[in-house]
Amino acid sequence: MAFVRFNLFYLARPRLNHVAVYDPKLASVWPALHAEIGEEAMASFPNGFLALAIFSLLAIAARAQLSPAFYATTCPNLQSIVRSVIAQVVAQEPRMGASMIRLFFHDCFVNGCDASVLLDDTPTMAGEKNAMGNMNSLRGYEAVDAIKSRVEAACRATVSCADVVALAARDSVSLLGGPSWTV
Ligand code: HEM
Repeated sequence: MAFVRFNLFYLARPRLNHVAVYDPKLASVWPALHAEIGEEAMASFPNGFLALAIFSLLAIAARAQLSPAFYATTCPNLQSIVRSVIAQVVAQEPRMGASMIRLFFHDCFVNGCDASVLLDDTPTMAGEKNAMGNMNSLRGYEAVDAIKSRVEAACRATVSCADVVALAARDSVSLLGGPSWTV
């Protein structure tokens, strides 16, 4: 019970700084104050609890999104599709492997890793493809398009462009004799 009571006040703490010095023994001296603080703490409990629950769910969701098995059930052939297309591409032109790892780096170039380096301009918005540092310099869009069309045929609207670029970069490096890593 004492544990429950401590947690109750801990969760309510951000809104109830004065509770830090609250002593239940004062209840006999100031019954009105006791009632007031008790009610306020009870009223704050759902807010604190809700915030904690939402935070926990977000933490779980973030972990799930970073799993290497994220597409294991929704797009089980993803890894083999990417690898087979990249194998053809680098066999034809080994430099494309270098271009793919650069594309992966530049995917986080404009305003960090948000959006995608694959975005074209629209009439109302500048895309990343033609941003400074990317325009007329990056290569490999055709390889990504080839992967993307095969991935879309296998599992429609499931795999993100960023994940395709990350897998393509990894496979380019490993197929050209470099190290490999889990994506
Ligand atoms: C801020 C740091 C960097 C700068 C300023 C920079 C700059 C450049 C420039 C100017 C080129 C030549 C582009 C052209 O010929 O049009 C280039 C090519 C390249 N960069 Fe970087 N780079 C940086 C970081 C990186 C990183 C971190 C990687 C790898 C993850 C990388 C990989 C490459 C590759 C592979 C090429 C050759 C691409 C190709 O032949 O298609 N660079 N870089």
